[in-house]
Amino acid sequence: MPNTYHCILTHGGAGSDAAFRDGAETACRMGMDALGQGTGALEAAVRGVVALENDGRFNAGVGSRARADGSVQMDACVMDSDGRFGAVAVIEGFRNPVLIAHKLMASEHCMRAGRGAAEFALEHDFETWTGRKGTADASYEGSDTVGCVAFDGTRFAAALSTGGTGGSPAGRVGDVPLLGCGLYAGPYGAVAATGKGEAIARNMTAFRAYQMLEEGMGPNFVIEEVLDWFEEDEDIGLILMSRKAWAGQSNRSMAWSGLSEGEP
Ligand code: GLY
Repeated sequence: MPNTYHCILTHGGAGSDAAFRDGAETACRMGMDALGQGTGALEAAVRGVVALENDGRFNAGVGSRARADGSVQMDACVMDSDGRFGAVAVIEGFRNPVLIAHKLMASEHCMRAGRGAAEFALEHDFETWTGRKGTADASYEGSDTVGCVAFDGTRFAAALSTGGTGGSPAGRVGDVPLLGCGLYAGPYGAVAATGKGEAIARNMTAFRAYQMLEEGMGPNFVIEEVLDWFEEDEDIGLILMSRKAWAGQSNRSMAWSGLSEGEP
C-alpha cells in the first residue's frame, strides 16, 4: 500500500524539555514503522507510547513521578475510531501500563484500577517491574502525560500514559483514563491531551476538541481554541490530527514530533 496516507504524532508531556524532542522523534519513528508494517493505527499508537514509557526523561512508565507517600501509581489508556477503549488507573509495579490498557480493551471491561488492574496484568502474564523507587516531588513543575495519535489511512487511534502529578495523594486520578478527557479517537480524527488532569477533565477536553475536528475546523485552529479554555497556571498541551492535517502545541515547553507518509 505505498500510497496509503500514514500519520503519527507523539509528545513527551506538557512541561517536558523541548530539548528531549529526540525521544518524541524516536517514538514517532517506531509508530511509523508499525504503520508501514500494516499493524494498524492502534498498534502504532501503543508502540509510540511504549517508546515514551521506556524513556526515563518523561513522566510515564519507567520515568513516572512518585506520589506524596513515595508510591508510583500510573494511569494509561487507548482508544480507536471503532469506539474501542481500554484503561488502567493507579496501577503499580509494571513497566508499560499502556500495554495493559491495550490488553484490557479486548476484555469485557473498559477499565480496571489499582489492585484489580494489577491482577488483570498478572493474569495476562505481564511481568512485574520494581526498577524504580519513587521520590516524591511535591512541585507541579516538570512534565506530564505522554501521548501518541496515529492514522493508518482508515482508522484513527490514540494512546496515553502517565505517572500522574508528582507529589499528589495516593489514589488521585487525573484525566488520562477518563474517556473523552485525556484522549478521543473517532472517524474524523484523534486527540491526545497532556497537562493538569483536573482542568482537562472538567473541560472534557479531548472530546470537545474532536467535535471541532468533526465540524471541519483545522487542527491549528482547534488547538488555539482549546488552549484558551485553560488558565495561565493550568498546563495544557495537545496533539491532534484530522484526515488531512495535524498540529501540536502547549502553553508550556513540550517535546513533540510528527511524521506523515503518502498523500492525504
Ligand atoms: N494529565 C495527567 C494527570 O493530571 O494525571
